[in-house]
Amino acid sequence: MPIDKADFRRALGHFAAAVTVVTSKLKSGEPAGITVTAFTSLSLEPPLVLICIDKRAKIHDHLEKDHFFAVNILNEDQEAVSRRFAASEGDQFREVGYTDGATGAPLIHDTVTSIECKIVDLLPGGDHTIVVGEVEGAHVREGKPLVYFRGGYASLS
Ligand SMILES: Cc1cc2nc3c(=O)[nH]c(=O)nc-3n(C[C@H](O)[C@H](O)[C@H](O)COP(=O)(O)O)c2cc1C
Repeated sequence: MPIDKADFRRALGHFAAAVTVVTSKLKSGEPAGITVTAFTSLSLEPPLVLICIDKRAKIHDHLEKDHFFAVNILNEDQEAVSRRFAASEGDQFREVGYTDGATGAPLIHDTVTSIECKIVDLLPGGDHTIVVGEVEGAHVREGKPLVYFRGGYASLS
């Protein structure tokens, strides 16, 4: 019998995770983004990462094979950016500076790192989709990441 939902959430809350915002360009050319902690490295050769996206998220249906996305690892001062991209309403990119990367995916300014990926696989994962991305480039900067732990934001310091 599967674990109770609340116990599952409580247990997973003890897994400290860096907070990212996954961004992509919609077919209309509009930028889109979603706050994501379900991000991990997957393979070195070829260089693969994966993200898990809720099927109900607005960005979900735009993530198709051969499209591009960027994983923007937020720095410890970007809690407001995380909150904005975890909210459904409003213009999420308002007052959030970004530059289009070589793949066209929006790279949010002042993050710790931005990783540009091409979608090579989409796999079922319960109420989420596992999106596998081949890494085409990375922009590594200075700073400490924003961390999510036991339902709240934290930093490494
Ligand atoms: C700290 C944090 C981590 C999150 N991680 C994920 C995640 O890994 N995958 C996901 O699909 N949603 C995740 N979410 C929820 C989405 O950010 C949120 O449901 C989504 O932005 C809702 O808006 P939308 O449906 O308008 O896109 C997370 C939210 C927060 C606050």
